[in-house]
Amino acid sequence: MEALVPTAAGLFLVTLAAYLATLAFREFATARALRASVDMERLLLGERITEMAERRRRELEKAERTWDGFRKFVVTRKEMEANDICSFYLEPHDRRPLPVFMPGQYLTFRLAIPGQAKPVIRCYSLSDAPKAEYFRVTIKRIGPPPGKPDGLPGLASSYFHEDIEVGNILDVKAPAGQFWLEPADTTPVVLIGGGIGLTPVLSMLQAIVDANARREVWFFYGLRNRTEHVMARHLHRIAAQNPNVSLHVCYSDPTGECQQDVDYQHAERVSVDLMRRVLPSNAPHFYLCGPPPMMQAMVEGLAAWGVPHERIHHEAFGPASVKSAAAATAPAAAVSTPVEVVFSRSARQCVWDGRSTLLEMAEANGIRLDFGCRAGNCGTCITALKTGTVDYPSPPGTAVETGSCLACVAVPKGNVTLDA
Ligand SMILES: Cc1cc2nc3c(=O)[nH]c(=O)nc-3n(C[C@H](O)[C@H](O)[C@H](O)COP(=O)(O)OP(=O)(O)OC[C@H]3O[C@@H](n4cnc5c(N)ncnc54)[C@H](O)[C@@H]3O)c2cc1C
Ligand code: FES
Repeated sequence: MEALVPTAAGLFLVTLAAYLATLAFREFATARALRASVDMERLLLGERITEMAERRRRELEKAERTWDGFRKFVVTRKEMEANDICSFYLEPHDRRPLPVFMPGQYLTFRLAIPGQAKPVIRCYSLSDAPKAEYFRVTIKRIGPPPGKPDGLPGLASSYFHEDIEVGNILDVKAPAGQFWLEPADTTPVVLIGGGIGLTPVLSMLQAIVDANARREVWFFYGLRNRTEHVMARHLHRIAAQNPNVSLHVCYSDPTGECQQDVDYQHAERVSVDLMRRVLPSNAPHFYLCGPPPMMQAMVEGLAAWGVPHERIHHEAFGPASVKSAAAATAPAAAVSTPVEVVFSRSARQCVWDGRSTLLEMAEANGIRLDFGCRAGNCGTCITALKTGTVDYPSPPGTAVETGSCLACVAVPKGNVTLDA
């Protein structure tokens, strides 16, 4: 009996010690987890502060280095990239530093083309990441309209290809445009370029790679075959050196000379069906630029796949002969009574569909209005308003005087009459 007492006491002591040890371990583990979480928060906060400081630095630098109106640039290099596609390297004539632009933005050119009564304004996307020494644009020469071999080829693109040489001086506006990507962000992205629509997404890809970012990138490039393939070796090198970049080149019409898995990965058009097969989910942000039919199919397909409107970013290069991708995704304004738009000089009268811009309405009715950027920045599409007023769903980058409107971004605010 007596022997049992110390045994019970011993057992009690051992249990107590084990209990206290467990408590101490729990305390230690909780404190360690707390410390790890504080460390993580501190790290994230540090990264956030560095990122904000970097953005601020860029904004200040941009404000210091940007310019109003047109600035003279010298063409320092001209390089053929593929059939009818040529890159032009531009350096400021005044040799002052260049502003940092956002990858995806474009330059606006004022071209004095012989035989033209007034300067021709055209926009070309910057096709490289921001570099200290130069800007680069990559231009496709536009031939006569399909089925009309005797028709007029593209005015400005032919001028660039045929007349612009190294040493020539061009008038250029500062980089602009709303279609851009923040290279410092970390969200996964899908970049899609169709044909010459490659240029802004190429700049985005290069900027991500230059930033040494580990951000996941899926890069889709749609074209017909090798003859149109721009910077093939460069793209393959980027993909080989950056495990975070997944390159998908799609040839819609490969010839016998095109080698699958060397020149291209997929013998098909870029499509949402392909994205569904290749991407792990529909969660990334999508940036796309290409011909209108591709854009329209992609934007509609991505929306149908459940990608929210705010994660689909796109830009169109040409006339909205096909309903623009913006119109395809933007909800139509609620219009209770029909809004009438009159193009007085062309004697055309039409009813607004609740979302098209005045430029898109003019084009849909065969009325030619001058345009450059199609984004409210260059001022080329300024048109006099004879009656009525307009709205700008997103504020234009160029000031407009009362009595005029920027047709490329304006929508009617009631019945309007345009001097066009
Ligand atoms: C933001 C932005 C960025 C761009 N970036 C690039 C880029 O990086 N690279 C690039 O190559 N292009 C780019 N473009 C397109 C570029 O600005 C020009 O539109 C393109 O080069 C054609 O201009 P052009 O003067 O050669 O052709 P235009 O003379 O304007 O003619 C274009 C075509 O349309 C036909 N056409 C002309 N008028 C009519 C008419 N009334 N009816 C029917 N058909 C007609 C012509 O015959 C020709 O086939 C961009 C456009 C924008 C808006
Ligand atoms: S086309 Fe450039 S502002 Fe309208």
